[in-house]
Order: sequence, then C-alpha cells, then structure tokens
Amino acid sequence: MKLFLDTAEIGEIRTIASWGVLDGVTTNPTLFAKTSGMTYDEVLKEICTITDGPVSAEVVADDVEGMLKEGRHFAKLADNIVVKVPMSETGLQAISRFAAEGIRTNCTLIFTANQGLLAAKAGASLLSPFVGRLDDINEEGMIVIRELSDIIRFHEIDSEVLSASIRHPRHVTESALAGAHIATIPFKVFQQMVHHPLTDKGIAQFRSDWDTARKALEARGKKKG
Ligand code: G3P
Repeated sequence: MKLFLDTAEIGEIRTIASWGVLDGVTTNPTLFAKTSGMTYDEVLKEICTITDGPVSAEVVADDVEGMLKEGRHFAKLADNIVVKVPMSETGLQAISRFAAEGIRTNCTLIFTANQGLLAAKAGASLLSPFVGRLDDINEEGMIVIRELSDIIRFHEIDSEVLSASIRHPRHVTESALAGAHIATIPFKVFQQMVHHPLTDKGIAQFRSDWDTARKALEARGKKKG
C-alpha cells in the first residue's frame, strides 16, 4: 500500500520524506491557502523536487476548457504532476480529454462507488473517495473504499483507489484492510501512527535501565582502580 501526504507544507513533506515512507503528495486549494509566501506553481515545483511520486495539483475552473488549461499548465511543471479534477459532468469530460493527451488525473470529491466507477471509466488514474466527510454526515466512508476497491479489482480496471479525508490512524488501517491502493494522510495523523504510549514508555525504560547499568559498571571500575 502506498502512503501519500495530504498537505502543501514543504516542511511537513521534507519530514515524512526523511522517514523513508513518502510515496506521493496530494494538495488542494484549502491546503494551499494554509501556506504563505509562495505561489501554487512554486509550491508544486518544490514538492516535486522532494518526491518522485505522484503530486496532485487541483484545478479550480468549473468549465471543461478552463480545467484543461489549468491542468495542462500543471502537467508542464514536472513529470510527476497528477491533475486533480472534481467529480462532476464537466470534470468527467476533462478527465477523458486529459487521458487522451496522456495526462494523469486524480478524480476528487468522490462519495459513492458509482462516482468512482464513472471516473475510472473516463480514464482517471486515481480515484479519491472522502472517508472523513462521509463519516461526518453519519455515513460509513469505509464502505465506499471497500466497494470501489472490489469493483476495480474484480473488473481489472487500471485505476487506483486513494482513500482521502483521513482523520485518524484507524482510517489508515481500515483503508488498508478495505483494499485501498493508497491513503493520503495529514501530517498529524502520520505522527499519530508512529506513536504508542507503550512504545514511548518502553523507550524511556530502556534508556533509564541502560544508564543504570552503565553507572554500575563505571562504579565497579572505579573501585577496582
Ligand atoms: O485529500 C482530500 C482531503 O484533503 C480532504 O480532507 O479533512 O478536508 O475532509 P478533509
């Protein structure tokens, strides 16, 4: 399973890359709005120097020609850019046009398996169901991940299910068990995945026991001398 980082913050991307676990990055206008001082193009180019994996850049136009213009521009920034297009009738048109041009796309804002199936048929490389936002409205986001992953594998469709809107570490585990090819994870959740109270307690205990043993050895050495 591949793990992407869901952020536009360069520092966060460098950190997760340094752990050796970063397979790609997803950005969107909301995540870009949290950054400061760089244009979206500059942010995307910088991210693409940190990872060779897919980097999603989202279009904001709501008409096909506008989406194509923005997406073609993003695709020229780096070889690993994937154009993120929202699920809609115009979005599907843009996805199929991008596919014909050899530009990879990530269909975002998917909330049903049928939307994912349509995006795959139109030629999207990545299909992004939003798990957390479905949970927020009292639906079961993970059902969409499971259904869409089953459909993709059963029919041998050449698209990958990317579990998005991840809110906590259980979402990652459940996405992996439900068959998602990828999860895109916020920085904070990556950190939560690393830690466990018993791990942290165990590290402190080993360090303290090591210091005790070392001091005892030193004391014995001093006595002999
Ligand atoms: O990748 C999509 C993701 O950023 C949406 O997450 O938490 O805004 O629902 P959220």
